[in-house]
Amino acid sequence: MTSGPKAVDELSEDEARQALASLAEQIARHDALYHQQDTPEISDADYDVLRKQNAAIEERFPNLVRDDSPSGRVGAAPAAGFSKVAHARPMLSLSNAFSDDDVTEFVARVRRFLGLEETETVEIVAEPKIDGLSASLRYENGVFALGATRGDGATGEDITANLRTITDIPESLSPEAPATFEVRGEVYMSRDDFFALNERQRAAGSKEFANPRNAAAGSLRQLDASITATRPLHFFAYSVGESSGATGKTHWEFLALLDRWGFSVNPHSRLCADSSEALALYREIDTARASLPYDIDGIVYKINRLDWQNRLGMVSRAPRWAIAHKFAAEQAETLLHDISIQVGRTGALTPVAELEPITVGGVVVSRATLHNADEIERKDVRSGDTVVIQRAGDVIPQVVRVVAEKRPAGSKPFSFPTHCPECGSLVVQEDGEVVRRCTGGLICPAQALERLKHFVSRNAFDIEGFGGKHIEAFRNDGLIETPADIFRLSDRADEIANREGWGQQSADNLFAAIEARRTISLDRFIYALGVRQVGQSNARLLARHYGSYDILATAMTEAQDPESEAYSALIAIDGIGPSVATDLIAFFSEDHNRTVLEDLSRTLEIEPFIQEENDSPIAGRTVVFTGTLEKMTRGEAKARAETLGAKVSGSVSKKTDYVVAGPGAGSKAKKAAELGLTILSEEEWLDMLSEGNTS
Ligand code: IVH
Repeated sequence: MTSGPKAVDELSEDEARQALASLAEQIARHDALYHQQDTPEISDADYDVLRKQNAAIEERFPNLVRDDSPSGRVGAAPAAGFSKVAHARPMLSLSNAFSDDDVTEFVARVRRFLGLEETETVEIVAEPKIDGLSASLRYENGVFALGATRGDGATGEDITANLRTITDIPESLSPEAPATFEVRGEVYMSRDDFFALNERQRAAGSKEFANPRNAAAGSLRQLDASITATRPLHFFAYSVGESSGATGKTHWEFLALLDRWGFSVNPHSRLCADSSEALALYREIDTARASLPYDIDGIVYKINRLDWQNRLGMVSRAPRWAIAHKFAAEQAETLLHDISIQVGRTGALTPVAELEPITVGGVVVSRATLHNADEIERKDVRSGDTVVIQRAGDVIPQVVRVVAEKRPAGSKPFSFPTHCPECGSLVVQEDGEVVRRCTGGLICPAQALERLKHFVSRNAFDIEGFGGKHIEAFRNDGLIETPADIFRLSDRADEIANREGWGQQSADNLFAAIEARRTISLDRFIYALGVRQVGQSNARLLARHYGSYDILATAMTEAQDPESEAYSALIAIDGIGPSVATDLIAFFSEDHNRTVLEDLSRTLEIEPFIQEENDSPIAGRTVVFTGTLEKMTRGEAKARAETLGAKVSGSVSKKTDYVVAGPGAGSKAKKAAELGLTILSEEEWLDMLSEGNTS
């Protein structure tokens, strides 16, 4: 049996420090997966466990709280791609209550804070907590002017164009609304629309979403708003940001005003005379929850009087005048027929529970993830067991526990395969990893297929109309084996046009869609390779650092030597580190991958990474290199400067912004000095570029 993490009160200071470092890293990673990439890897419940553990350790060791502690952050910083919006008022989060006692204590705290008499009543507005994502809408003179995501609470992303596609969001407000008015609320997708969307995604071979909330987030964060327009999103308004006019005396009045001014307000919200009425509503809605058309994950209680809300203010990142009372995850009992093993793109073996289908929280469930071998052992899950499963906002449900009394006689513990069920290769477990992996690499058909699917997926090559299903079929029929084969498909035009369900027109459309992707940005290309631990954000970091594919490829070869400068430079990239470096180097040194990379780089045009303008300290500047450069060739220095948006010139003039002078610099450096220009050593120059990277 594996033991869980040590109890917090047993941790030594050193262990606590290590645990906090590891938690900060894990939480940041899951935040990015959830908020920026809409592809969470763990359930909300497991994420909450990480946060709670972090908070408990910080409480016991306040001197060890890290500068980058997850407790000080809400969500994640905005992803690149949208312009940033500084919120006029911060977008807050809510503290949580998990029991009736937590709720009565919340009201008692409010009473103490305000110094209220026993006789004074404290009205509460109870509202369903919509499981979507929050957005802030700004109206200027009654017209919708700017819409933003929450981001990290202080700065979000400008998603105005996307929000305009939502019919619940009025383009203009009734004339009574204040001249400047910011409303906050939740963007969500109904469960039925989510299923229909996944159905369409499946048919197109595109990525399916884990739950309605991720589907809403993914749909809203489309750079192309015409895609958002095809996704059925809704909006409930529930709070105010900046406002130039009055918004009533109570929250209840405010909700009525929102309704009058043109917004949708959740119809199940209720004004309660005290906490017991609020708790009654909680129970009522909890029971009815599966029949609501959208997911909710709790009830939010808000102190009704706005003057009291003002006095209560906020503490760290949440208002003192509101609390979210979470629902317990929806659970059900069913029979586990079998445990099957799925092999993923990186060879990870994931055990899956094959269940007798059952409805949980409005969703029919027939499979549940068992995560890994340790999890099966810890819960002692066996074929034939009756298990409790739960769905906590996620469509991928989990096995919570085995119902021991219902275990049939003679059942045997699950033995995890020692060889890959797909290719028979040995299965290994690396030091410090829970995951077991197939060592077959690309000889494993499952890994090869998953890698190809990843290659064409939405955030990678994203070939229109050519998704996972097509990849599978084409691969089975020998039309594609490696990624570059996709770009040679037009050589087999007749064969494709004659396939069942195809024809000349659809084959031509496919070739056009493939051709459109023959030019690809460096960050997408790196992501498409499917290197372990290199998701979108690491791909972007690498693209930004190396600038062009050739520089990246050379650096990866050189970095095989751990003593090399290339290696030091790689692990020094903020956010990369030794573990990701190991996976990258292994990928770039494997023979098969090298062949694929060479083939691809001949077939494709991989565009250099274009630095966002304000991100680069040298964008728009003119640079002259003179003398010998020691860290890189002149050619590379020039390419890098151009990638960062600079103009490189061969001669010095008044218009030159920087002269980078190496040893042996002669007349150009002299002229620069005469003109009073900024002259930098190669080192100073590189420092300046890397400062731009981290800003
Ligand atoms: S009030 C200062 N009301 O829950 C007020 N939030 O866990 C902050 N949410 O960030 C929010 N339904 O995205 C409020 N009726 C509701 C809500 C709600 C869903 C979300 C919101 C917030 C998160 C906090």
